[in-house]
Amino acid sequence: MHLLLMTVGLLLMVEVGIAKHQVRTRRQLNNPLHQGGIRDPYGSYCERRGGCCPGRDDQCTVPYLDTICYCDLFCNRTVSDCCPDFWGHCLGIPPPTIFKSCERNGHRFHPGATHRENCNLCTCSRTGQWDCEQHVCLVEPDMIHAINRGNYGWHAGNYSQFWGMTLDEGIRYRLGTQLPSRSILSMNELKMNMDSSERLPPYFRAEEKWPGKIHEPLDQGNCAASWAFSTAAVASDRIAIQSMGHMTPQLSPQNIISCDTRNQGGCTWGRVDGAWWFLRRKGVVTQECYPFSAPQPGETPHCMMHSRPVGRGKRQATARCPSAESYQNEIYQSTPPYRLSSNEKEIMKEIMDNGPVQAIMEVHEDFFVYRSGIYRHTPVSSRKAPQYRKHGTHSVRITGWGEERDYNGQTRKYWIAANSWGRNWGEDGYFKIARGENECQIETFIIGVWGRVTMEDMHHHHRKHHHRHE
Ligand SMILES: *[C@@H]1O[C@H](CO)[C@@H](O)[C@H](O)[C@H]1NC(C)=O
Ligand SMILES: *[C@@H]1O[C@H](CO)[C@@H](O)[C@H](O)[C@H]1NC(C)=O
Repeated sequence: MHLLLMTVGLLLMVEVGIAKHQVRTRRQLNNPLHQGGIRDPYGSYCERRGGCCPGRDDQCTVPYLDTICYCDLFCNRTVSDCCPDFWGHCLGIPPPTIFKSCERNGHRFHPGATHRENCNLCTCSRTGQWDCEQHVCLVEPDMIHAINRGNYGWHAGNYSQFWGMTLDEGIRYRLGTQLPSRSILSMNELKMNMDSSERLPPYFRAEEKWPGKIHEPLDQGNCAASWAFSTAAVASDRIAIQSMGHMTPQLSPQNIISCDTRNQGGCTWGRVDGAWWFLRRKGVVTQECYPFSAPQPGETPHCMMHSRPVGRGKRQATARCPSAESYQNEIYQSTPPYRLSSNEKEIMKEIMDNGPVQAIMEVHEDFFVYRSGIYRHTPVSSRKAPQYRKHGTHSVRITGWGEERDYNGQTRKYWIAANSWGRNWGEDGYFKIARGENECQIETFIIGVWGRVTMEDMHHHHRKHHHRHE
C-alpha cells in the first residue's frame, strides 16, 4: 500500500517537472550574453531590425558583437540572449537591474570598466556603481579648500606632479632623509661667541648678499634622496661664497646618490652625515658633469664616477663625465660639517656670515600643497582618520629670513628655505616657514660646513678661467 502511493507520487513529480520545464533547448543552454552587463545598452539592434517578434522565433536575430542576439519574447527567459535594446524597444521598460551600467560625465560604462579618480582606481560594479579604492591622495582638494578658507597665513595649491599619487607615495618618494643617529644628534654644537647686543637685520637673503653664488633649487622627482640634494646644495653655495666666486660649481646630487652607497639607500632614503663624509673624503663633480637622472620610483642608477687621491687629501677624477657634453670632471670636496645650536639668533648669524645652512625637518601631509605664505602645520586633518595624518623626515637649505605683519598687526617671523621639488613648487622652489618656534623641528638639527678652498685652488681656477676667455 505504502509502496504504491510512493511510486505514484514519484511519477507525478517527474511528470509535473517535465511539464513545467520541458526540455531545455540548445538556445537556452547557450551562455547568457549579458553576464558582465549589457554592452551598448543604448545601441539600436531590434530597432534597426525593424521590430520585435511575438512568442518564440529562432530566426528573429540581429548581429551583436561577434555573435547574435534575439528580439523575440522567448529571449525574456532567465537565460538572457536578448538584444541590448530589447527591453527598451520591445517592452518599453528599462533593462533588468542585474544589467546595470555606470554613469560618468554623461556616458555609460559597462561593469568592469575602470577610470582613475586622482590616486584611486574606480571599477564599475555589476550593481551599476563605481567602486573606488580608498587611498588618501597626496593632493586632496578638500584639504586645499580648508587651508585656503582658514587663516593659516599660507596658501595651498594643486600640483600636477603630485596629482594621482597617494599620500603614502608622497612620503615614500618625495622626502628621503633619515633622522640622524643618536650619536650624531648629540654631536657637539658649535659654540658661538655672540655679542648679545649684536643686531641682526629683520630681513636677509643670501642671494642678495652673494649674487650669483647661491644655487637654484633642483627637483628630486620621485627619488627619495633629499639627503643628497640638500647636502650638495649647501656645499655648492658655501664653496662659491668662500672662493669669492672663483668657483661656483653646482655639485651633483647624482654623484652622491649613486656613489655614496655605504649604509645609504640612494633613491630610497639616506643620511646627511654620510653624505658629508663622502663630500669630504671622496668629493663630487658638478651637476653638468654628472646630471641627475630621474629614475623610476625607488631605483638608484649605479655609480659612474670614481676618483683617486693626489696628495694632501685632494682627489682627482679617474672617469670621464657621465654627460657627453661636459669635460670638466673636477672633484670638489668639503671640510667636516659642524652642528649649530637651535638658537634662532645663532642660526641667523651663521647664515649671514658664512652662507646657507642645512636643516632637517618633519614634512606633514599639508606641506606638499604649500603654494605661498608662511608655512606652519595646520590642524585641517587633525579630526580625520590616522591615514590622513602622516609625516616623514626631509632636509632642506635655509637661505635667509624675514618678517611680516599679518592682518591683525602681529609680526610673523619666518625662514626662507629652498626645497628640492623643482621651481614650480612653492615660491619659485622656495618656501617660508615660521621662525623661532621650531616649526616642524626645523631648528632642531642645523648643519654648516666650509668648502675646501685653498689659495692654490683659487689661483688655479682663476688661471683656467682666463684661459677660456683668451
Ligand atoms: C521580461 O522580463 C522583465 C524583467 O525580467 C519583466 O519585468 C517583464 O515582465 C518580462 N516581460 C514579459 C513579456 O515576460
Ligand atoms: C589638479 O591638477 C590635475 C593635473 O593638472 C588636474 O587633473 C586636476 O583636475 C586638478 N585638481 C583640482 C581639484 O583642481
